[in-house]
Amino acid sequence: MNIAIRQIHPVFVGEVSGLDVIGPLVPEEVAAVEAGMDRYAVLVFHDQKLTDEQQMAFSRHFGALEDARGGNITRPEDKRLQVGMNDVSNLGRDGRPLDRESRQRLFNLGNMLWHSDSSFRPIPAKYSLLSARVVNLAGGNTEFADMRAAYDALEADIKAQIEDLVCEHSLMYSRGSLGLLDYSEEERVMFRPVRQRLVRTHPVTGRRSLYLSSHAGGIVGMPMAEARLLLRDLTEHATQPQFVYVHRWRPWDLVMWDNRQMMHRVRRYDEHQPRDMRRTTIAGDAPTV
Ligand SMILES: [Fe+2]
Repeated sequence: MNIAIRQIHPVFVGEVSGLDVIGPLVPEEVAAVEAGMDRYAVLVFHDQKLTDEQQMAFSRHFGALEDARGGNITRPEDKRLQVGMNDVSNLGRDGRPLDRESRQRLFNLGNMLWHSDSSFRPIPAKYSLLSARVVNLAGGNTEFADMRAAYDALEADIKAQIEDLVCEHSLMYSRGSLGLLDYSEEERVMFRPVRQRLVRTHPVTGRRSLYLSSHAGGIVGMPMAEARLLLRDLTEHATQPQFVYVHRWRPWDLVMWDNRQMMHRVRRYDEHQPRDMRRTTIAGDAPTV
């Protein structure tokens, strides 16, 4: 086993070398990646020329793939990728960039808000793995914010205040903050709010972290305006530059992150150009409340 991990940010993020994720992997390699995730929370693998099947196979080493249903407004007949692959490109089925007014495109713009994948699900995601197939020449960076470091840096009285708070998360909250307020009755049921703890404890390391996401739109037992101000304040704190790593994509980068301890967002880019990014998502194993 030749795997090595080098930390590339002062508080988190490891760059992995000596591993071909296409495999076959030995159990020690899988364990080394898991341990790297526990420690660095974001791992970067360069030059991984994956097919979708190979990406799914590598992902399954870390748990079952999440059922993507209920996570988007794209109709099954409009999907570009097979079941198991989350399409976070700007492309339609015809392989061309979506029209400016496309509802699918507007909904996907929500990925530019700080979030944790699937925090709108009763059992939220464990890891996400994002493979860069076609990257943009300018813009389109993905930024990651370390919610453990952000939690550690909170004042003791704030930690005590938020300790037992429970938030309500929904895709309608994140998209609603962009003015996307029209949903069918079916979508309203699909996107009904779920509850998540505001402070999480990592099951392996025991480290605590803020569980923030633009999907959070309320706090149980708190007036909405007050809740949203608190969430906004915490998000501002948690996304200060010292907690943020900026990933500038190269083709065939694979980046893997732990949604239980990270937030992330995509930055703006020229949407006339194709951006083909494909995600696999590892399901979580328990609710947070
Ligand atoms: Fe995401």
